[in-house]
Amino acid sequence: MHAEGAMLHSKIMAYDLVVIGSGPGGYSAAVRAGQYGLKTAIIEKAPKLGGTCLHVGCVPTKALLHTAEVWDYFLHPAEQGLSCENPQLNLPAVMKRKQDIVDKHAKGITGLMRKNKVEVIAGYGTLLGGGRINVQSAEGTRVIESKAILIATGSEARMIPGLEPDDEFILTNVEILKLQSVPKSLAIIGAGAVGTEFASIFKRYGSQVTVLEMLPRLVPVEDEDVSKELERCFRKAGIRCETGAKASDIQRTGTGVSLNVTLANGKVEPLLVDKLLIAVGRKPNTDKIGLENVPGVQVDRGFIKVGPDQQTGEPGVYAIGDVVAGTPQLAHVATAEGMIAVAAIAGKPFTPINRNRIPGATYTEPGIGSVGLTEAQARQQGYDVKIGKFPFAGNSKASIVGHHEGFVKIVSDAKYGEILGVHIIGPHGYELIAEAVAAMEAEATVDTMINTIHAHPTLYEALGEAFNAVYGQAINF
Ligand code: NAI
Repeated sequence: MHAEGAMLHSKIMAYDLVVIGSGPGGYSAAVRAGQYGLKTAIIEKAPKLGGTCLHVGCVPTKALLHTAEVWDYFLHPAEQGLSCENPQLNLPAVMKRKQDIVDKHAKGITGLMRKNKVEVIAGYGTLLGGGRINVQSAEGTRVIESKAILIATGSEARMIPGLEPDDEFILTNVEILKLQSVPKSLAIIGAGAVGTEFASIFKRYGSQVTVLEMLPRLVPVEDEDVSKELERCFRKAGIRCETGAKASDIQRTGTGVSLNVTLANGKVEPLLVDKLLIAVGRKPNTDKIGLENVPGVQVDRGFIKVGPDQQTGEPGVYAIGDVVAGTPQLAHVATAEGMIAVAAIAGKPFTPINRNRIPGATYTEPGIGSVGLTEAQARQQGYDVKIGKFPFAGNSKASIVGHHEGFVKIVSDAKYGEILGVHIIGPHGYELIAEAVAAMEAEATVDTMINTIHAHPTLYEALGEAFNAVYGQAINF
């Protein structure tokens, strides 16, 4: 039905599909459209393709986190029976490695566009209505037409009102990636994925890190046990964590930033730091893309409402990724939504997004991976909840890699052994979650997973043990 909607315009259009924005959602959708034989163009305002995820998000941060992991081994060589005198962390070289990775992949995306016959249009795209898009670039302005339009314009860091980022003192995820020396002290406002990942990076690089979160726990979207374990590990690593805290009177001092912190107990404490990172969420890029010209598109606090096929209320206009209402702002969600939208546009079958099958992956130390309902959500929804929990302390591979913090927690329904959610915090938890996502997608039960043979010694054996723990039958703990 919606696929037909995309074809409503009877006049000759230059394109079958125009994608606005080349993040992981937009460029993947363009590739898929090319594979389907649709005449496709992608509009990007930045000099290189790839969007936030590639240039100032997922990829560069994970490169810095990988270096932090390697560096951590250098700092404790004796644990491995090694010695290493006077190791040095050279931040400009670390940043260059990160940038080389980013640039390589940006080039790769350009190659993918060529391979799939997607036309790349440099400039800023604005919807004009009736399948037309205005593209503004240094060369001037032109209007293109398309049967279908896919909005994939992403998001940007939300700021605390009254503050503007700069390159030196008050930073967002963008500016912090340009640092050329490790700050002595770093305060971070917001303990979501961005805040906790940068805390994990800069603590290991040698900064004194303070995390300020207004809610009562770190990573508040995760299961409560995961938040507790992360806070325990952060404190042990020397990261100061203040939850239930409010920052106010934020001022640049000339050499750093001063602020007042109202602690959970009501006490107000002054804090003076070299740098301040603002990581309080992201706002969708929907205010300057001409939505007023497509009145069918419905917006909720800036987020675009879509149907199961990712189509907005305006026939032929689709939206994916961080601009979409109701799904988390994650690169892999954008990509999945892009596949759905393009299938719908091309009249192919698709399966709508199932919120309960979206993996979360936070690359802190220890790492977090999760899918499905938390224990609290499952109880709220009235399930007869049965929990299985297995600590990495009982996993030999965790001891081998020297990271035995954390656990795997299974949230299941006692009635049929349905897997409702899986929550991992521990070594490479963000990779290990893959088994749980596949199991839930295949509607495997706790018993199926108990009968699934897990190789030894592996980190993912901890999942097998946790499924056994649902029946109180873990072996190694
Ligand atoms: P977020 O919404 O996940 O977390 C922001 C945190 O800041 C929340 O815990 C919130 O309670 C807190 N907060 C808000 N205002 C505050 C204030 N004034 N004072 C103190 N705390 C305050 O946003 P974040 O971390 O900026 O990430 C944005 C998006 O990007 C999220 O959807 C996140 O999932 C995604 N992302 C995902 C990553 C991953 O999957 N590894 C990595 C980075 C970002």
